[in-house]
Amino acid sequence: MLSVNRRANDVRTLVADWRSSGHTVGFIPTMGALHEGHGSLIRASLDQCDRTLVSIFVNPLQFDRDEDLATYPVDSRADQNFVADLGAHALFLPSVEEMYPSKQLTLVTQSELTDHLDGAARPGFFDGILTVVLKLFHMVNPDIAFFGQKDYQQVAVVRRMVEDLNMTIKIHAMPTERESNGLALSSRNRLLAKTSRSDAPKLFKCLNELRSRFRDGETEVRALVAPIRKTLAAIPDARIDYISVVDGQSLQLRTDRVQVGDVVAIAVFLGEIRLIDNIILSDHPWKS
Ligand code: PAF
Repeated sequence: MLSVNRRANDVRTLVADWRSSGHTVGFIPTMGALHEGHGSLIRASLDQCDRTLVSIFVNPLQFDRDEDLATYPVDSRADQNFVADLGAHALFLPSVEEMYPSKQLTLVTQSELTDHLDGAARPGFFDGILTVVLKLFHMVNPDIAFFGQKDYQQVAVVRRMVEDLNMTIKIHAMPTERESNGLALSSRNRLLAKTSRSDAPKLFKCLNELRSRFRDGETEVRALVAPIRKTLAAIPDARIDYISVVDGQSLQLRTDRVQVGDVVAIAVFLGEIRLIDNIILSDHPWKS
């Protein structure tokens, strides 16, 4: 039976009870509109931990555009059923007042890893994410927290925060879940207009083609990225926010040549909806 909690104190008590019974705790922080991508994180937690807690909180602190916050999909009933059907043990559904009872004067900021990609494209975005994730970690006190690799930079900055702040929580990243046409699962996909919906799989197709060119021996950034720009420019409603290649560890930009372990990350608006995706460059055809 799923335990549904709206108060941080109730979550603290619940987790303390689990811990006093010797259980390990897995945590999946989300903003709701749950899909199979979240499903794979929940399943991983159920496999690896005795108890699994999922949070759903649309965090206003990480939205730079009011409109984006206002249109972010919310489907609480479906989300609750999704989490219950998978067999998770608890759900945390805090209100904005519960998470931010007064104006948040303290923010978590990270340098370097946030210099590029979404860190550059969305000012304040990672301050908002790190601040809410740290608050949630304090409330939930998990052993392992699970994140999706689709948000490559998010995983990297959360990992680094945990390391820098001497926290003992383990961060596990799970591979991106995709539709059969390659489109990365995202809560935003349901907001896409019909034509954008049929264009959206081209993002991953472009990334895959880039990977093939890399495996065939091309290492020059420009030569690798130019065909993606061309394909996306031909989509009437598409606007490229960025296409970048970064070192997979430091997340610093590659401007000349790429190498194994680098990450190619893209953010593209299809109409009003911004989608992101990425691939890790490897020389093995079976590895992403
Ligand atoms: O990835 C998300 O859904 C959010 O950024 C997170 C980690 C739940 C923080 O609000």
